[in-house]
Order: sequence, then structure tokens, then C-alpha cells
Amino acid sequence: MNKLSFIALIGSLPFCLILSVQAADDINPKNGQVLHQKHCQACHISMFGDEKTIYTRADHKVTDKNKLDNQVQACNQNLGLGWFDTEINDTAAWLSQEYYHFDTNPDSDNLKH
Ligand code: HEC
Repeated sequence: MNKLSFIALIGSLPFCLILSVQAADDINPKNGQVLHQKHCQACHISMFGDEKTIYTRADHKVTDKNKLDNQVQACNQNLGLGWFDTEINDTAAWLSQEYYHFDTNPDSDNLKH
């Protein structure tokens, strides 16, 4: 390797790091669906007989995106799952896409439909 290409290689490293951090922030509702199936729905089904009634019953509690984020965060903590923010965001995004249909507010973070 000559000196110039070595400098080019070193110079590109911070750029790669920035790219990979951004990739980790991407919301992936499909991953949220898998996580939800694995960790969340059995308990809700045992309470209501199916997986959706807890989210769709007339007096359900989550009425905006903040409450959804907080609830997923709280369940994560209660259950001791130790999820990363990306897993919380993915699961919240899937629940919103599937059941709650919250609008995407450009000022708030990152729910994509
Ligand atoms: C051990 C049982 C259990 C598990 C496991 C569980 N939950 Fe819950 N969940 C509950 C209970 C109990 C409620 C509250 C029902 C109530 O107060 O009416 C609830 C309510 C919720 C709500 C609010 C529904 C609404 O709009 O009223 C959301 C959202 C939710 N859970 C998400 C999750 C997620 C995400 C997971 C997985 C990380 C999870 N839950 C795992 C028991 C559980």
C-alpha cells in the first residue's frame, strides 16, 4: 500500500462510523413485529383471548405516540428485557402501523408508516 492510499483509508474511517450509527437508528417495524411476537403478545392474549384487543378495546390507554413510546419502554423495564432504543422504537413503530395509526409528526422522532 502506498502512502497516499493509506491516508485515504484512514480518512474514510470516521465516515464509515457515522454511516453505521445512522443505520442503527433506522426504524424497522418488521423487526418490531418479530420482537412483539416473541416477548409481548402471549401475556396480552392470556388476558383478552387474542393479541389485538388490548390495543383496540374501547378504553385502551395508549392514545398518542408519546404514550406508546412510554408504554413500550415501561413494559421493557417491567419485564427486564434490556432492550436497546432501536428495539423499543421498532416495536412502537410496528404497534403504531398495525393498531394505533398515529400520524407522523415531522418534529418528533422517527415513526415511519
Ligand atoms: C406479563 C404480562 C405482559 C407482558 C409480557 C407484556 N405486557 Fe403489555 N400489558 C400488560 C398489561 C397488564 C397491560 C395493561 C392493561 C390495562 O391496564 O388495561 C398492558 C398494556 C400494554 C399496552 C397498552 C395498551 C393500551 O393501549 O391500552 C401496550 C402498548 C403494551 N402493553 C405493550 C407491550 C409490549 C411492547 C410488550 C413487550 C415488550 C408487552 N406489552 C408485554 C401485560 C403485559
